[in-house]
Order: sequence, then C-alpha cells, then structure tokens
Amino acid sequence: MIPVSEPDIGEKEIEYVDDAVRSGWVSSHGKYIDEFEKKFSEFIGTEYGLTVSNGTTALHLALSALGIKEGDEVIVPDLTFISPVNAVLYCNATPVLCDIDKKNWCIDADKIEGLITPRTRAIIVVHLYGNAADMDKIMEIADRHKLYVVEDTAESLGTTYKGKKLGSIGTIGCFSFYGNKTMTTGEGGFCTTNNKELYNKMSMLRDHGMTSKKRYWHEFIGYNYRMTNLQAALGVAQLERINYFIERKHEIGKIYIEKLKDKVTLHPEGKAYNGTYWLYSILMKDEKERDDLMDFLYSNGIDTRRFFYPVHSMPPYEKYSRGNYPVSTDIANRGINLPSSVKLKDGEVEHVCSKIIEFLDSE
Ligand SMILES: Cc1ncc(COP(=O)(O)O)c(C=O)c1O
Repeated sequence: MIPVSEPDIGEKEIEYVDDAVRSGWVSSHGKYIDEFEKKFSEFIGTEYGLTVSNGTTALHLALSALGIKEGDEVIVPDLTFISPVNAVLYCNATPVLCDIDKKNWCIDADKIEGLITPRTRAIIVVHLYGNAADMDKIMEIADRHKLYVVEDTAESLGTTYKGKKLGSIGTIGCFSFYGNKTMTTGEGGFCTTNNKELYNKMSMLRDHGMTSKKRYWHEFIGYNYRMTNLQAALGVAQLERINYFIERKHEIGKIYIEKLKDKVTLHPEGKAYNGTYWLYSILMKDEKERDDLMDFLYSNGIDTRRFFYPVHSMPPYEKYSRGNYPVSTDIANRGINLPSSVKLKDGEVEHVCSKIIEFLDSE
C-alpha cells in the first residue's frame, strides 16, 4: 500500500534516542529538551518556545495562558482537525465557527469581523494542509479589536508568509509532531511566542502551575503537558533534516501539479505565502466522484484521506454554528489528501497520478 504519510526515521534519530535512553534522562529533563526548545524556536523565528506532550495540549496550554475562560468566545474555522475546537471547550469557553476561504482553505478573514461580539477574546487560525491563512488581514482585525491570535501550525510547519515562518506571526504558535506530520517526535507538540510573560505562564502551566523558584509551590492549577527527553532526542535529529523534508514535499507537489493540471482542481497556491504541501490535496467535481476515486485508488494499493468533516455538521458541535458554511461544506465534500510522504519515490508519485488519470478517463 502506498501510504498517505509515513515518518522518515534515520540513523541520527536512532543514535540520539539511544543516547537519551542510556543517559538515564528519560523523563522531561535532559539536554535534548533544552536543545530542541532552543533550535526549534530559532527555526520558527521566535524568541521563546517550549516543548509539550502533543499538539492538542499545545493549543490548550496557549488558551489557558491567555486566560480564556467560561463566557469567552473564540473564533475558529469550520474546516479543521478537531483539536483547536476542543481546546476552546476544555477552557469552558465557546467556539464560534467561521467559514473558510476557497483561495487557501483556511479561515475566511473577510467573515471574521461579522462574528466578533463583546465576548470575543481570540481567533484561532488553522493553517490547513501546508497552506497559510490571510495573516495580514487577520492581524489587522485582531489589533483593532484587541484580540489574541493563536496560529495552529500543526499542518504547515515550514510554510512562510511574506518571508516569516508561520507560528511566529500571531500571539502564540502551536505545533504537533504526531507521526504523520512534516517532522515527528512520536507524539509531541510545541508552543512558540515572542512574549516572555506568556512563555513563563505556559512553562508553569505545563508543570502543574509550579513556580520554578520554589519546588512544590503551586501558583495556580496547571497540567502535566511535558514532553520527554526521548521524544526531544527524536525531534533534534528530525530538525537537522527539516529543510530536506520541506524541499522533498515541494518536489512531490511539483509532480502532482505537472501530471494533474487541467484534470482536477489542484491544491491552492499562495500569492502571499510559500506553502509546504504537508499533504498534497486535490478537489474532485463532487462528493460521489471523490468517494469513487478513493475506492478506486484503494483497490489499486494507494491510500488517501478524505478532508475533515465541517465542524458544524457533527453532533457535539452543531450548537456552535453561526449561519451557513457553504465553502467549508463544499470543499470538505470534494477534497482528497494524496500520498505525500517524503519517502515516496518520484515513480510512486507518478504511479498515483497515472491511476487518477485512468479513473478520470474511465468515467
Ligand atoms: C490542525 C491540527 N491541529 C492540532 C492537531 C493535534 O495534534 P496532536 O495529534 O499532536 O494532538 C492536529 C493533528 O494531529 C492538526 O492537524
């Protein structure tokens, strides 16, 4: 089976994890944690950064540090992996769903202002499938209304927006290093920020609200959202190859573009951003054609994913809907993530394209 995504684990990864295990520093202290926090923040271009246990806890930690609480509203896109919506609910706040923009599949900056109320505190931007949201417009709206911006960059690690890495533009950037992401630590996540106060607050919240000055003294109720030194060892090794991973994603994207142009709706290209094609994705003409193509590819040994379901369409989240979501509904129904692993050979990507063309020709 050609997978949608699989991690590329090399000898360096094995060497560093082996070193971490042998050092005895197997929990959340150790040299790899310090090195990973320093180097990943440098890579993104923020002054501060901290490792956490996964991308979902990164989001919850960010919102907690921003003081998001019951009665507050947070604007989130209707097309996303569910974590950012759940993170708002973990804070007992209300997610307010916003439609997406067909030009980048991310939150529609032109529809945000209509959703702002006196209770709105923050906007969570989810940079979907390697793309970037319209950050200039979103930051301008946020500044004018005094709102925080949390960038969920789990799917767009390495994408640059007007030369800046995503995750360095909003108040806090959140990342996931789950096994299918551009780089992995097994499970794992990261928060980036340029705000020292927020960094300190997140560091304490990550460790049960304990002050670093006085052991076992808790200033507020926190969590255990720490990453282990073993995971960070994997992260340091992966980060050494991050530019190769990003470059390879581009090469794979180029093959899809070359072979599939004029046949299907291609993954959007940014004017303001340079995307990474975390998962190269296409849109078919309707839901039936999408599902039939997925079945056809599966029966030919090629795995794919349908897009996320629109959040408002799922029972636990229906009540957070505000009107209609024509764009997220349409794109969710027609979208497919194609195999995008950096380990794919050019010939395998070409094979996926030829099977898609064979399917289209047989219609
Ligand atoms: C956009 C987005 N946000 C958050 C997450 C959650 O990350 P994790 O699985 O590490 O909790 C993911 C995917 O895993 C994601 O795709």
